[in-house]
Amino acid sequence: MATKVEKDSVTGTETTGHEWDGIKELNTPLPRWWIITLWVCVAWSGVYIIFYSAIPGWDGLWEYTARKDVTRQMEAVKADRAKWLDRLADASIEEIGKDSDLLNFAMAGGGAAFADNCAPCHGSGGAGGPGYPNLLDDDWIWGGTLDNIQVTVTHGVRWAQDDDTRITEMPRFGVDELLDKDQINDVADYVLSLFGGGAAAGNGAEIFAENCAACHGESGEGNAELGAPRLSDAIWLYGGDKATIVETITNSRGGVMPAWGTRLDEVTVKQLAIYVHSLGGGQ
Ligand code: HEC
Ligand code: HEC
Repeated sequence: MATKVEKDSVTGTETTGHEWDGIKELNTPLPRWWIITLWVCVAWSGVYIIFYSAIPGWDGLWEYTARKDVTRQMEAVKADRAKWLDRLADASIEEIGKDSDLLNFAMAGGGAAFADNCAPCHGSGGAGGPGYPNLLDDDWIWGGTLDNIQVTVTHGVRWAQDDDTRITEMPRFGVDELLDKDQINDVADYVLSLFGGGAAAGNGAEIFAENCAACHGESGEGNAELGAPRLSDAIWLYGGDKATIVETITNSRGGVMPAWGTRLDEVTVKQLAIYVHSLGGGQ
């Protein structure tokens, strides 16, 4: 084959020397920069394949995969959480209240646990409803200190399976015929008068002093040790209209709150107590 360099007369470009039927092949090689870029890319892909997980079943020399990365990050988060949970477990509930970082962590955990376990009865915001106390106000049936709340949450109220549960049974004054209908009517009026919801009538005051004051206090101020609600305010567990009060006195109520000490771990209960305490009315 001819190797002599020949220039095309029209374009001035060298030809390869190939010629068919008078048509000559011009020699226009790829630009150098293009070739260099190509080989750099080829070399880079070789490096990439070896270091990264490009080959199925092999994670590459760097052993980096997005999946492993997520696992590592999750472990770091878990380790970080464990550190906090350990601190929570060690700290007394009062100490937690004084440590703002620990408190924030407890609040977040308590809020989540509240939504999971407590909201069905107490409402998602803790506002409660008839028979389920409002946890946002400063009216506490069983006391609103951190300790009180922790005990209530741990052991429940009238929760038969827990030996340390909080329990006081208000007598069923009507059903068990401790008071007759007229007396119940009178004492109900007296209860209404305690918070300004009506006028006392008959001998309601005496009936109250004899039958009710031992638990609810002489002027209906309530007693957290007995779980006897305050009657001298307008905050009601079951309702403050006369019919509801008569119903409560007649049948009693015996509201039940489950014990959480056996279902949730100690740290979660602590977080819950702190969360509930912070909702508004903690004492
Ligand atoms: C099955 C319904 C139910 C669930 C679930 C429930 N509670 Fe209660 N809770 C009650 C009832 C009813 C009372 C009132 C008991 C009474 O009559 O003294 C109560 C009372 C309380 C009290 C005392 C309020 C006071 O004024 O002293 C606290 C605190 C409390 N609950 C917190 C919680 C927390 C925290 C959870 C979730 C771990 C929870 N409760 C889940 C029904 C429930
Ligand atoms: C042995 C203690 C005890 C005695 C005595 C007692 N109570 Fe109660 N009372 C309670 C408890 C505990 C509750 C909480 C309701 C429950 O059973 O869940 C309550 C609840 C009530 C409530 C409902 C309060 C609300 O917020 O809805 C009224 C009203 C009430 N009592 C009135 C009376 C009257 C009136 C008497 C007297 C005739 C009386 N109680 C005697 C313990 C007592």
